[in-house]
Amino acid sequence: MLRRIEEAKTRAEDDLRAVADLKKIEAWRIAHLGKKSAVMEALRGLPALSLEERKQAGARANEVKTLLEEAYRQKLESLKEAELAAAIASESLDVTLPGHPFALGRLHPTTQAVAEVCQVFAAMGFEVVEGPEVESEYYNFEALNIPRDHPARDMWATLWVDQSIAQSDQRVLLRTHTSPMQIRTMEERRPPVRAVFPGKVYRYEATDATHEWMFHQVEGLAIDTGITMADLKGTLYEFARRLFGADRKARFRCDYFPFVEPGVEMAIDCFACKGAGCRLCKGSGWIEILGAGMVHPEVLRRMGCDPETHSGFAFGMGVERIPMLRYGVEDIRHFYSNDFRFLRKF
Ligand code: PHE
Repeated sequence: MLRRIEEAKTRAEDDLRAVADLKKIEAWRIAHLGKKSAVMEALRGLPALSLEERKQAGARANEVKTLLEEAYRQKLESLKEAELAAAIASESLDVTLPGHPFALGRLHPTTQAVAEVCQVFAAMGFEVVEGPEVESEYYNFEALNIPRDHPARDMWATLWVDQSIAQSDQRVLLRTHTSPMQIRTMEERRPPVRAVFPGKVYRYEATDATHEWMFHQVEGLAIDTGITMADLKGTLYEFARRLFGADRKARFRCDYFPFVEPGVEMAIDCFACKGAGCRLCKGSGWIEILGAGMVHPEVLRRMGCDPETHSGFAFGMGVERIPMLRYGVEDIRHFYSNDFRFLRKF
């Protein structure tokens, strides 16, 4: 029995020397100090021995057990220390190393264009107001003189919101233009009012080089007593000069929008060819930039204004067109396909 105990001790010590990490030391503990280890088995076998043997073997087995436990404790300690030292060494921080350069953020080209347009109008005394992109049928159409079966609804292919999540009896949609803000604003303000409304609009359309299902508009509205078509022309003309150059000419032609009367479309003389005709203006010398008109009497009444005493003008423009024209971007889809090589050019 004594011999077995000594052999177990030697084996355990040899094995322990070979243990090199914390995972292996647990296996060692189970093998040499666990219930099935040689030392523990020797202790369990003591009752079968003679009294004399039992005394000797018992004492030695206990001694060996204590020795091994102490050896285990020491080894465990030193392994933990080694592991910590290795972690410290490998994770050491050299504060003298140069840092990682951060990529500089930039504003999206559309954001820049929206800001620029708003700044031009702000400088002319317009306030800037934003409104909801999820709109009711009332603000997007009805209040703007476009009843349910009006053929003009075809001008705005509409994305409707599922009525089961709409939480109202009003039909709900993604606004097809920023014009609903004309009505919303006039529900909260009394004339004189001068405001521009930038934001996203949505149309249920197949995309191509000049059409996106989401794009941006800036809407404008001025309501007061005695506002005339001359104010509309003067304001938009000044806007075109500030945005596209001091020598710009503007051209107004008749157009139809149900919420204005008369309605116009404004074009500026092509700033690339100065009106001579080029690829940008498709040879015409003119570039259409917005729709506008005098606020329709019916819409004025909706705004709580008497068309006998008050009048106003409104306009709406697509924003992506501005950088497209300026920088010759040939496809509107570039703006929203998240290609950083394109976006970082602005
Ligand atoms: N809302 C019109 C559109 O999206 C533009 C417009 C606004 C026209 C204001 C006239 C007056 O096409």
